[in-house]
Amino acid sequence: MSTPTPPGAAFHSTPVPETHAGAVLTIDLDAITSNYQSLTDRLGGVKPAAVVKADGYGLGAGPVAVTLANAGCRVFFVAHLEEGIGLRNSLNAAGDSDFVNAEIHVLGGLMPDTQDTYDAIRLIPVLGSLDQIHTWKQFCDRLDRPLPCDIHADTGMCRLGLPPDELAKLEIEPGRVDSLNINLVISHLACADEPDHPKNTEQLDAFHHVRKVLPQGRASLANSSGIFLGSDYHYDLARPGAALYGIAPVPGRANPMAQVIRLQGKIAQVRGVDTPETVGYGATHRAEGPARIATVPVGYADGYLRHLSSKGSGYIGNFPVPVVGRVSMDLITLDITGVPEHLCAPGALVDLIGPNNPIDQIADEAGTIGYEILTSLGNRYHRVYVGGSRLGDKETS
Ligand SMILES: Cc1ncc(COP(=O)(O)O)c(C=O)c1O
Repeated sequence: MSTPTPPGAAFHSTPVPETHAGAVLTIDLDAITSNYQSLTDRLGGVKPAAVVKADGYGLGAGPVAVTLANAGCRVFFVAHLEEGIGLRNSLNAAGDSDFVNAEIHVLGGLMPDTQDTYDAIRLIPVLGSLDQIHTWKQFCDRLDRPLPCDIHADTGMCRLGLPPDELAKLEIEPGRVDSLNINLVISHLACADEPDHPKNTEQLDAFHHVRKVLPQGRASLANSSGIFLGSDYHYDLARPGAALYGIAPVPGRANPMAQVIRLQGKIAQVRGVDTPETVGYGATHRAEGPARIATVPVGYADGYLRHLSSKGSGYIGNFPVPVVGRVSMDLITLDITGVPEHLCAPGALVDLIGPNNPIDQIADEAGTIGYEILTSLGNRYHRVYVGGSRLGDKETS
């Protein structure tokens, strides 16, 4: 069966043919569009941007961004300058003149000697210190062009952004940002995925203060989970990433987002066990027999985390098939004793992430978060993009 080329797919890495792959990763671009629309609805009049760093959370920044651009998104965030360059190429190559002026903001801050690149590619640096502000101001003054920039104020992450003492200096010396063309003033929430955490309101108060010191441009505070904290957190622009890709924005509550990916491993071999035998490295699992063990060519080198050893679960149709023994570099072993034999022939597909075992469940089993599961997805999978509106179908507002 041939798969239609998705918008922007040409910019992704070399495809692995289906027959050569140990697993098939299906990425539903329509689900991404639907998640973007449902976040837009939840935000009322506030527009969501899209965070597409880390190669669109592992799903392919090109196809993801072009899909979102087709859905009306014109503001994107990446982490690194290099990602911004790639994204600009993907949006330009989509061949829609509307996408050419999409805003691309680079969250990582201004690294030394990168100003010319920001200018040439029309990227917007998210400035995170007085030094960075000074460097950008000097650069714009020298060019005599007020190129856009953002300012990131740290309200409680102790990571990127102007620390409180630098914000205090700015309050005393507002001339430091005088001639700057400030597009956005942003901050980032540390505990938005825990709605009752007191840090949320602390950061909200701190951000109110930031806006008093820096009233220029638009304000942006909320990531995916922040959107679900309520309209006080929405300001002028939200910056969702995870929720677009189907990760539950409020852990522990029903997930309102559509599932975007399905990962199906192929059965390579089935072993019958009649007398007790151990399975895999370290002999950590003992199959008492009679049992059937299926080997699937997906391992930690593909992002199927080793922590899923004897903890992960796959599904063949609606039959659960637990991972037994250790996850190795290229292989996992699953107990398929309860599954009818005709469903377990070599080449049969096992849902490693699917309708019965969504990303957040796999993340729980691995003792991690959905973000890590997505961004670890390996490049040995055969990737299939489904859905994705054509350029002619785009909806802009
Ligand atoms: C500054 C910033 N804004 C927004 C996001 C998107 O967050 P999420 O994926 O939780 O929606 C991130 C992601 O880490 C971020 O670092």
